[in-house]
Amino acid sequence: MTSRIVGTGHCVPETVITNDDLSKIVDTNDEWISSRTGIKSRRIVKEENTSYMAYMAAKQALDNANILPEDIDLIIVATSTPDTIFPNTACCVQGLLNNKKAVCFDLNAACSGFIYALNVAHSHIVAKMAKKALVIGSECMSKVINWKDRGTCVLFGDGAGAVVIEESKEGFIHTVVGSDGSKGEAIICDGHSNSYFEGEKEKKHPFTEMNGQEVFRFAVKKVPESIGQLLEKSNTLIEEIDWYILHQANERIISSVSKRLGVPMEKFPINLEQYGNTSAASVPILLDEMNRNGMLKKGDKIVISGFGAGLTWGTSLLIW
Ligand code: UT7
Repeated sequence: MTSRIVGTGHCVPETVITNDDLSKIVDTNDEWISSRTGIKSRRIVKEENTSYMAYMAAKQALDNANILPEDIDLIIVATSTPDTIFPNTACCVQGLLNNKKAVCFDLNAACSGFIYALNVAHSHIVAKMAKKALVIGSECMSKVINWKDRGTCVLFGDGAGAVVIEESKEGFIHTVVGSDGSKGEAIICDGHSNSYFEGEKEKKHPFTEMNGQEVFRFAVKKVPESIGQLLEKSNTLIEEIDWYILHQANERIISSVSKRLGVPMEKFPINLEQYGNTSAASVPILLDEMNRNGMLKKGDKIVISGFGAGLTWGTSLLIW
């Protein structure tokens, strides 16, 4: 027995910010951003927020699965940019869905969060602790970015993606997840304020700071390595895989993974040119777009992979 994805959805903010728009606020240009990352524009929240986008994506995924909100008994939201520290985002989604029975919590593994959350939800289903789960990645990265830092502000975007999973004979085959806390400084954001008793302590990293080249090197090594481990553990050949749906951080990372694996780029769908890096939301947004475009056929073998702050990584193999 395993679990499988039975519905997908996504929601992105209305406001589109192009590379040219950014060149008016920091010293950058479309040529640099496009050639170094592949990003052309991103969606940025104005009226929307993390829980609203998570709810909208969840509603779509439930409709797509033809499942009622009240039938969901587990909601996990992968996010590092919740609207409130508490209540957690999953509880906010539960309230908006008017669901009364789900267990709800958030999970923070940055850009790997969606893969981590899927793995946890899958484990709940296999352990018979849940029957139908909503797994959502939702982020407002725009709120933790220094909009004066051209090295980071051009990279990220906001959005949410969601899936519904339930018990099944076929679906998730295997997952490889890992973390390396010794490299935590490579992408860091403090976020919290000080307590009265600490006095005035200056925040070292009030906004997202990143050693881009270190993260780049980590990603192009770790992602192919985890895919190799996954295929070996599940006795699957690399050419059996129909799609490699990778976290949408940088087109150069994706093409480097494709080269290292010796797999053509046609098997690596990309939508980062429209949305930038939406952290935990990038994999489920892309999955939903592919599902709605009819690109995913029953029986397709799909690898999904995330990597990012922590450092963390996670890669799953599933049958559609
Ligand atoms: O989801 C979390 C995971 N994060 C990632 O996967 C990010 C991984 N890293 C990357 O994608 C790339 O390292 C970046 C896109 C962040 C940067 O690309 P890079 O080729 O490593 O560039 P760089 O940081 O070495 O910077 C090259 C030059 C520098 O100027 P000098 O020192 O050569 O004069 C930067 O100051 O480009 C400059 N630069 C910019 N120029 C115009 C940095 N940002 C910009 C910018 N516009 N936005």
